[in-house]
Formats: sequence, C-alpha cells, structure tokens
Amino acid sequence: MGYSAEVVKKVREDFENKRTDAVRLAESHRDEVSLKCPAILEIDKALSMTGLAIYKASLAGTNGLEERIEAIKKENLELNLAKRQLLKTAGYPEDYLDVKYSCDKCNDVGYNGVNMCSCMKKALVNEAYNHSGLGKVLKHQTFKNFDLSYYEDENDRTQMQSILEKAKKYVSDFGKPEKDSNLLFIGTTGLGKTHITTAIAKGVIDKSFDVVYDSAQNIVRAFEMERFEKDERAGVETQRYFDCDLLILDDLGTEFRNSFTQSCIYNLLNTRINAGKSMIISTNIDSTSKLLEMYDDRITSRLVGSFRPFKFVGKDVRLAKMKNGAKK
Ligand SMILES: Nc1ncnc2c1ncn2[C@@H]1O[C@H](COP(=O)(O)OP(=O)(O)O)[C@@H](O)[C@H]1O
Ligand SMILES: [Mg+2]
Ligand SMILES: [Zn+2]
Repeated sequence: MGYSAEVVKKVREDFENKRTDAVRLAESHRDEVSLKCPAILEIDKALSMTGLAIYKASLAGTNGLEERIEAIKKENLELNLAKRQLLKTAGYPEDYLDVKYSCDKCNDVGYNGVNMCSCMKKALVNEAYNHSGLGKVLKHQTFKNFDLSYYEDENDRTQMQSILEKAKKYVSDFGKPEKDSNLLFIGTTGLGKTHITTAIAKGVIDKSFDVVYDSAQNIVRAFEMERFEKDERAGVETQRYFDCDLLILDDLGTEFRNSFTQSCIYNLLNTRINAGKSMIISTNIDSTSKLLEMYDDRITSRLVGSFRPFKFVGKDVRLAKMKNGAKK
C-alpha cells in the first residue's frame, strides 16, 4: 500500500518549490524596501539578533535572567511595531517582509516533527487523483450522485442498488485480507459502469492506495509502444499497471486484438491475480460464449475463474440525461 514513488516525488518537489518561492518573494520585497526605506531594514536586522541577545542574556547567569529576557521580548515587540508602522507609512502592507508560507502549521515543510502535516496529506491525495488517470472526473462521478431512479424497472433498480452497495463495501473492505479482489462489470453502454468504478477509485485512493485507471485501448497501446517503439514513458506506464494496488481496466473488448495484445492482457491479469492484486474490469461483452469468441481460453478462464461478475441493467443513462437536459 501507499502511493506510487512518482506521486510522492512530485509532492515533495512541489513543497520544496513552494518553500523556495516564499523565501524568494520575501527577499525580493526586502530588496525593494531597502531602496525606498533603508531604516526599516535596520530594524529588521536588530530583530534578527533577538535569538543571539537571549543567548547572551542567559550566559550572564541565572540571576535576574527572567527579567532580562522579558526586557528583550518587550524591545522586540516594540521594534516589530515600529517596523510595521514604517512599512505602512511607506505604502506597503504591514507583513510585506515576512516569508509567507501557504501552510502556517508546517511552513510548507510538510511535516510537524515526525508527523505528516494535513496539508501534505491533502496534496498527496490530490496528486494521486491526478495520477490515477481519472483526474477531474472523480468529482463528478461519485457514489452520492449515482441516482437509482434512472433505472425505471423495479427489478433493474433493485439489481443496481445491490451493485451500488457492493461497490461501497468494496471500498470499505479494500486492504483487508478477506475481500473480493476482482470485479467484472458487465453491461451495455451508459449504464453507469465507469461512473461506479470512478467512485470506487476515489474511495480507494482516499484510503492511501495507489490506483490506476485506464481503458483497454490505452493499456494495449502502451504495451505496443513499449514493445515496438521502445518508448520509455510507455514502459513506465505499463509497469504501473502491474505495480498499483488497484487496476481499473475499462471497456474490455473495445481494444485492438491480435496475438501480441492478447498475450499482454493475459500476462497482466495472470501476474496480478498471482500476486493477489486487485482489479476491476468493465466490459460490454455480456456472455461467456462471446468472450470465448473474442479472447483466447487463457484470458477467458482467468475472467471467469477469478472475477466476481456484476451485470448492469436498465436503459442508457447518458441518453436519459440528455433528454432531461433538452426538456429544460
Ligand atoms: N445511476 C446514475 N446516476 C447518475 N448518473 C449516471 C448514472 N449512471 C450513469 N450516469 C452518467 O451517465 C453517463 C454514462 O455513464 P457511464 O458510467 O460512462 O456508463 P458506462 O461506463 O456503463 O458506459 C456518465 O456521465 C455517468 O456519470
Ligand atoms: Mg464506460
Ligand atoms: Zn502543513
């Protein structure tokens, strides 16, 4: 478990850049002020000596130390006020010379001591969203806005409701030893397969797992680019298909099929299943006989033997939504 190394690296770099940018901005303000109002910088210099002054005060013995430190603090406060006043008079904001970090809990370090700051946790989740291949869609296709009333037939609705509940349970069970590892979502277009898998992806990412979503077409293309065009980036991508905690392979059956692509898919499924890694596959191939026609036996037997199938039913929700939109 845990996000991929690329996600962590990207967030660390972002934090480092945030810190340097904040310091640089404060430095440029300082340069600007030093030309217009050098007196302010004198005060600032005196302020930066405070630490040293306290240190010196402590060297002079414990007798009356508290009072000496109090006096330094008082002077410090006065200097600060004077500085802010001067800045204001010169037409600058009072805090113009301060380094402004975006998080005042960790000063953009990302950690408070050994604990990761909430700002870095958030940044990691966001980066993992982007990195999953789903990006913005995650906001629009959620469990919450999965509307069962689109399935007008009562039996259909009951069936879809049980799929929705199962999907939620898949998220809450993810990472536990006893769980359904692999799901197969079957059904014609527009019934909500991608919507539900997106909602699952978000839930699993929120639990700090590395999730990769991609269409069968893209997955197969990445393998081809890696193999025939020696494309390094494609190689990184295909490695992620193997390494991630949850792989969502969307629209199986729409990809270009030949013996090479079939062996890639088989290898991917087989390797992940043997490693006990989870997968969700969606497809509109709705019968085993069709599956057998389209794929070689090894893939079919993996799909039938290791995936729990769920049949999506009803009428095309995309069309229904479009009609509703047109009515407005
Ligand atoms: N039950 C639902 N409630 C709300 N929106 C839905 C529902 N099912 C599907 N949609 C929306 O309809 C469109 C098509 O659904 P999608 O999940 O892409 O279907 P599929 O992957 O089965 O072809 C998407 O915009 C999706 O958000
Ligand atoms: Mg889809
Ligand atoms: Zn922070």
